[in-house]
Amino acid sequence: MSKNYIIYTYGCQMNVHESEKIAGILSAKGYACCDDVENADVIVYNTCCVRENAEQHAFGNIGMIKKLKKAKKDLIVAVCGCMTQQKEFAEKLSSTFPYVDIVIGTFNVDKFGELLDKKLSQKKKVVEVLDSPNPICESIIPLRSSFPNAWVNIMYGCNNFCSYCIVPYVRGRERSRKAEDVLKEVKELVENGYKEITLLGQNVNSYGKDLSDGSSFAHLIDEIAKIEGKFRLRFMSNHPKDITEDVVRAIANNQHACKSIHLPVQSGSSRILGLMNRKYTREQYLSEVEMIRKIIPDCAITTDIIVGFPTETEEDFLETVSLVETVGYDGAFTFVYSPREGTVASKMDDQVSPDVKKDRIMRLVDIQNERNRQDSLKYVGKQVEILVEDYDKKKNAYMGRDERGRMAYFEFSRNLVGRFVTVEITKTGGMSLIGKVVKVED
Ligand code: SAH
Ligand code: SF4
Ligand code: F3S
Repeated sequence: MSKNYIIYTYGCQMNVHESEKIAGILSAKGYACCDDVENADVIVYNTCCVRENAEQHAFGNIGMIKKLKKAKKDLIVAVCGCMTQQKEFAEKLSSTFPYVDIVIGTFNVDKFGELLDKKLSQKKKVVEVLDSPNPICESIIPLRSSFPNAWVNIMYGCNNFCSYCIVPYVRGRERSRKAEDVLKEVKELVENGYKEITLLGQNVNSYGKDLSDGSSFAHLIDEIAKIEGKFRLRFMSNHPKDITEDVVRAIANNQHACKSIHLPVQSGSSRILGLMNRKYTREQYLSEVEMIRKIIPDCAITTDIIVGFPTETEEDFLETVSLVETVGYDGAFTFVYSPREGTVASKMDDQVSPDVKKDRIMRLVDIQNERNRQDSLKYVGKQVEILVEDYDKKKNAYMGRDERGRMAYFEFSRNLVGRFVTVEITKTGGMSLIGKVVKVED
């Protein structure tokens, strides 16, 4: 009988894709993916520690497996991802979750298969958390689970040390993949029918700076433009401190690139941005938005915002509100500041109280939601091109997005997943769109 695995993933797309790589390793070893934890022989927790709630979520779930592990002696429990790279983690783990069999850090996750073999041949737990990264491994074939979308790493790590952020500590310095490897992967994905490719990096604009072959993000986008076939290209994330006209022009000139840019602002107050070590001011950010809209007039802009950063006053927060209103974002991920051990901001005095943080996030979410609702209304009566991503069983409808990222639902009599369709929008469902298919592309 074949053995089964289940992977629980927390955190960002980077982690989602890393789980696909672990799934690829396990499947090459003959394991099959299962949905029911009771049937699993290997359980993997791919963790995140960017905010406290992500961490608690993972800890809670690892705790719940204790009973199962007691009843099923051969079950292997593995923990990987960003949490494992934190110094305090090792102690927490051995005292709270002694039944975990494998701990593997972010720098050697390509060795997951070898560590699993090691564990299977010995009783002792296997712990391997490195201080610096292994060379980039190009030989793992990920088992992708989000067709027709595919994630492609262009770089790993981060050099920016935003004062609130744990990522540079748990992911190390920037390492870019060779352009030829990225291009080969994108080409293969397109040949295999994938229709939306998202290039991943903590700061995609600095792609290639660590390579000595003249690679740059703008050049990479130009090279991807030469790939034939119809597909969408997206990026995650652009750092406002070094998005250049070159990059925006490369996006504008690339027929595959969605006219949509994720440009995390974090705060609308220059004082707070300084304390966050973001290396741009409110004014510089706004002039970048202007530059983008000059080059790509209908470009969607989305963002990430943190409220309640230490010392944030009501005035600072109102500057964020006014920036949100000025830019008119097409979408915003909003977060309550969460102190992360070891970061500069966690040592700052004047942490904002939980009540104030809660009040601010609620006000901000209301403003952005209202803006999304108003924006959706503008679509009614129009025809939009949608890439069909999934069938929503609860809504009994297919689901997909337009180039700008707006979600749409529609019924159809046959499977449309992975197809481009033209949908006439008849009404809105809050922030999303509802319509009928008027054309299916071959
Ligand atoms: N590299 C990306 C962001 C990766 S983390 C970038 O710089 O744009 C995703 C988001 O999590 C960040 O943009 C930020 O808004 C949020 N975040 C990071 N650390 C946080 C913290 N300590 N508390 C709350 N939100 C945080
Ligand atoms: Fe974190 Fe800043 Fe790096 Fe993004 S750029 S991962 S927010 S340190
Ligand atoms: Fe991503 Fe969380 Fe790590 S956001 S890089 S999984 S800390």
